[in-house]
Amino acid sequence: MNCGFYCVHLPDIMSDKRAIPNHVAIIMDGNGRWAKQRGKERYEGHLMGVEAVRGVVRAAVRNGVSWLTLYAFSTENWGRPQAEVDAIMELFCRTVVSEGKELAEQGVRVRIMGERTRFSKQVLEMIEHIERLTSGGDRLTLVLAFNYSSRREMVLAAQSLAERVANGELKVKDIDEECFASSLMTVAIPDPDLIIRTSGECRLSNFLLWQASYSEFYFPEVLWPDFTEEEFDKAMEEYAHRERRYGLV
Ligand code: IPE
Ligand code: IPE
Ligand code: MG
Repeated sequence: MNCGFYCVHLPDIMSDKRAIPNHVAIIMDGNGRWAKQRGKERYEGHLMGVEAVRGVVRAAVRNGVSWLTLYAFSTENWGRPQAEVDAIMELFCRTVVSEGKELAEQGVRVRIMGERTRFSKQVLEMIEHIERLTSGGDRLTLVLAFNYSSRREMVLAAQSLAERVANGELKVKDIDEECFASSLMTVAIPDPDLIIRTSGECRLSNFLLWQASYSEFYFPEVLWPDFTEEEFDKAMEEYAHRERRYGLV
């Protein structure tokens, strides 16, 4: 039935069909280059990177995103000069102190994901502090990948499953995708719908290898300290136009 112009377009006007990613994961890259371009120490880039995090958390809440994962420090990043590693750890602690209260007030629940090894006592205390302080947040869960490596995560999952089989708690034939996924550090975290990596690099660098199976990817050229709330909105706009098929037609 042809019911004319208004009838045809009405459903589009009336329903807000814009797809919003439930989980956005970001590889925050380019702090060092940002600093170098300005003749500053790499540390200054990390410092400005924290400012970008503040804006992106706000933008994620405003856009109705429920999960935001930020890749803050990879297991490989321990191999950087000791002074830079120390500066990043120090910055983490200072940020927890300066932002914790506001994050809690914004309804942001913070979770730190990664192996809790190699950290100093002070960093471990800050991790526990921020998780406790923000545990009541129900608007956005901010997962900070800190000393995270996806391969290591999968090796640990394999070890824990093998142990459960050896103990007789689990049968080999019961190890399926769901069972494997629930042995990962991301247990109870939905897979990322959108993965963003700033600075024009197009690689995962050991981030969420299992979880990214059907993620959409977005690689803006801007360096992380320049990734503003507007840049986040642009990513949301780009995502809204993606067609996800999951292998179907
Ligand atoms: C990302 O920025 C932050 C961390 C990896 C901790 P980089 O420090 O990797 O910046 P570039 O890639 O050297 O510019
Ligand atoms: C990935 O960035 C890790 C984080 C953003 C924390 P890197 O800068 O460490 O990755 P590569 O060395 O360019 O692959
Ligand atoms: Mg980098």
